[in-house]
Amino acid sequence: MLVLGIESSCDETAAAVVEDGRRVLSNVIASQHELHAEYAGVVPEIASRAHVERVLPVVREALAEAGAGLGRIDAVAVGNRPGLIGSLLVGVAAAKALAWSLGRPLIGVDHVRAHLYSGVLEAERETASQRDGETGLGEEVCVPALGLVASGGHTALYRVDSWTRIARLGGTIDDAVGEAYDKAAKILGLPQPGGPVLDALAREPGADDRAISFPVSRLSRESLDFSFSGLKTALLYAAEGVPGPRGAAAPPMSPARRADLAASFQRAAVGALLLKLHRALERLRLETGAPRPTLLTGGGVTRNSLLRQELLKLAEREGVDVRLPAPAYCTDNAAMIAGLGCELLRAGERSGLDLQAEPTPSL
Ligand code: KG4
Ligand code: ZN
Repeated sequence: MLVLGIESSCDETAAAVVEDGRRVLSNVIASQHELHAEYAGVVPEIASRAHVERVLPVVREALAEAGAGLGRIDAVAVGNRPGLIGSLLVGVAAAKALAWSLGRPLIGVDHVRAHLYSGVLEAERETASQRDGETGLGEEVCVPALGLVASGGHTALYRVDSWTRIARLGGTIDDAVGEAYDKAAKILGLPQPGGPVLDALAREPGADDRAISFPVSRLSRESLDFSFSGLKTALLYAAEGVPGPRGAAAPPMSPARRADLAASFQRAAVGALLLKLHRALERLRLETGAPRPTLLTGGGVTRNSLLRQELLKLAEREGVDVRLPAPAYCTDNAAMIAGLGCELLRAGERSGLDLQAEPTPSL
């Protein structure tokens, strides 16, 4: 089955063609980063207008790259929630029009659930050779699996019983981890989106990840929730000084200090993700007795070098079947939408032409 996927939930216009839910024949992404750069954040109206201009050329390119005309498409999948309403509407309208005109099924897909799917996609051959460190692709997922989504809009843990039965176990009570990265990068004077820039700075030779002891939020003993706002404030104080009568000035910001702050922030942010991941894994093991549970991961922050390294260690040390997406599938893309769409259609789900764009997640 050939599924055309369309994704437009935030500032990426994307289209992809995926065969049988796994094989990615094309994966085209038109990013809008340059349009929003001067505002230090995504401007919804600018994003919607750019999606309108780009959606059809991006779909055309995805079809051409896949070597498939529209006539060969068996179904159209679209990310219809959550996201910016104006952005979502563009993708949903395009997908409805295509499905209707082709007489093919339409399926609305939850963007956050699709991130969990990205680790089971097989890359095109040339992309496969560029992959770093993913494991177990193509093998069946052992369910119930654990899921971690770490992105700019979402940070949460899930229990995945099937692609149609996904339960949220916990999530951030304030900032998403990617959002914290972007804000931290801003504090350090780095360009946006700051996550990858901060990651690179933290890896610079000489950067000391223990130079500053940043807090890792635990919340209650049992909690599977995350909190990143305290870490962000701690970084702000370390960079600019503590305000108030009992305040203290910060040491001058040198390149070495900036790199130390980045590395220390990264250690705390990734540490917080790993802490709750271990808790959730322990719980899943107790509940299911699974000797080699699957961990599905996705979202922009799963591109992070330290997180990838730690997840691979977890796979090795604790016998967890970690599905790390290829870097191109970590950030927003339409291959994950087409892939999960295919699984939902196989499970008998289908959307009508009254499919709505919904700003909030289904979880
Ligand atoms: O999944 P995504 O493309 O969009 C959302 O659904 O939110 O994630 C984008 C987020 C941004 O916050 C970006 O800074 C972060 O992922 N990100 C990273 C890295 N690459 C992207 N954060 C830390 N380290 C990276 N290497
Ligand atoms: Zn996303």
